[in-house]
Amino acid sequence: MIVGIPKEIKDKEFRVGLTPGGVGQLVHAGHRVIVETHAGEGSGFSDEEYKAVGAEILPSAADVYSQAEMIMKVKEPLPSEYQYLREGLLLFTFLHLAACEELTRELMKRKVISVAYETVELPNGQLPLLTPMSEVAGKMAVQIAAHYLEETNGGRGKLLGGVPGVRPADVVIVGGGTVGTNAAMVALGMGAHVTIIDKNLDRLRYLDEILHGNLTTLSSNPLNIATAVEHADVVIGAVLIKGARAPKLVTREMISKMKPGSVVVDVAVDQGGCVETIHPTSHTNPTYLVDGVIHYGVPNIPGAVPRTSTYALSNATAPYALELANKGFVRAVKENPALAKGVNVYQGHVTYKAVADAFGLPYKPLEELL
Ligand SMILES: NC(=O)c1ccc[n+]([C@@H]2O[C@H](COP(=O)([O-])OP(=O)(O)OC[C@H]3O[C@@H](n4cnc5c(N)ncnc54)[C@H](O)[C@@H]3O)[C@@H](O)[C@H]2O)c1
Repeated sequence: MIVGIPKEIKDKEFRVGLTPGGVGQLVHAGHRVIVETHAGEGSGFSDEEYKAVGAEILPSAADVYSQAEMIMKVKEPLPSEYQYLREGLLLFTFLHLAACEELTRELMKRKVISVAYETVELPNGQLPLLTPMSEVAGKMAVQIAAHYLEETNGGRGKLLGGVPGVRPADVVIVGGGTVGTNAAMVALGMGAHVTIIDKNLDRLRYLDEILHGNLTTLSSNPLNIATAVEHADVVIGAVLIKGARAPKLVTREMISKMKPGSVVVDVAVDQGGCVETIHPTSHTNPTYLVDGVIHYGVPNIPGAVPRTSTYALSNATAPYALELANKGFVRAVKENPALAKGVNVYQGHVTYKAVADAFGLPYKPLEELL
């Protein structure tokens, strides 16, 4: 198969679809890998390093897209990239379609075989391609919140961990999955008081066992969320309903009761966000104010630490890319149910129910099309 790796063009997105190590695995298996020039530079990989493992370097995105049978990316295609999407092209990347009707319709119209990293799902419910980026984003969410909490950055001037004799900051994390757990680990490590809210009581039991420090766990209901948010210095949104738009659990009214200069980092913004007042921002302009509360809504947080994130993502995606390239799309998804769950759009149909439901589009199970 011919596998293409274009340069990412989202604002300050420094990750790349595969490391030279991952590319080398594909080349070793007999595939042709074409990489857009400078695609890896943001992550510290030169064109020469890709050439050394057998990749070809092409001068433009147009060249890569037109020759490739499978495109491996990090973020969803942006409108300027839609022109490259054609019938039968296999697109393997983060898509987050439930948050973007326009892209969903483009992929349908252009009959792109669209496999989303974030919905590849193992039989035990784990999301092996989302997890590494959620680990990064969860850890970063606390760094980001600590930064904006500083008076000099517009915050209320509170040190996350406090000092002896002074209360630490209150960090409320809504959703105790991968993002939530990683955020909690860092916040607890810094000495903050952390409240994790989740609807899954078994998950809360587990977190109560493994996390140590100044931790409270709370069952998710509107009253618990409202009370916790009102007293929070930091709220981190970390809820996920697989493939679907995030539920708005933190309402505008709750935000209006927060103290001025407190910080909301809604990591779930890529799926629409679980805070009513959040909207997507960018690394260039990451924050805005609502009722004096700092809102941070960057949907590609791990793009800021590419020398960690690209390795973490590529480690996880490379085996699936290899399977798609070795077997071809149809055999790969027939033999690997985890990969089949990643298919969001195929032959012009939405094949992921939560995405179809998000926009009232017809849903077609993948099995009926194979
Ligand atoms: N902005 C970014 O750069 C970035 C990076 C990585 C991940 N993400 C996003 O972060 C979000 C969380 O990802 P994750 O990997 O932690 O997901 P996850 O599936 O591991 O965890 C989600 C948690 O939400 C909980 N939840 C669901 N409904 C709830 C409710 N009503 N109340 C409270 N909790 C509820 C679940 O029980 C689960 O524990 C996703 O939208 C993901 O795409 C964003």
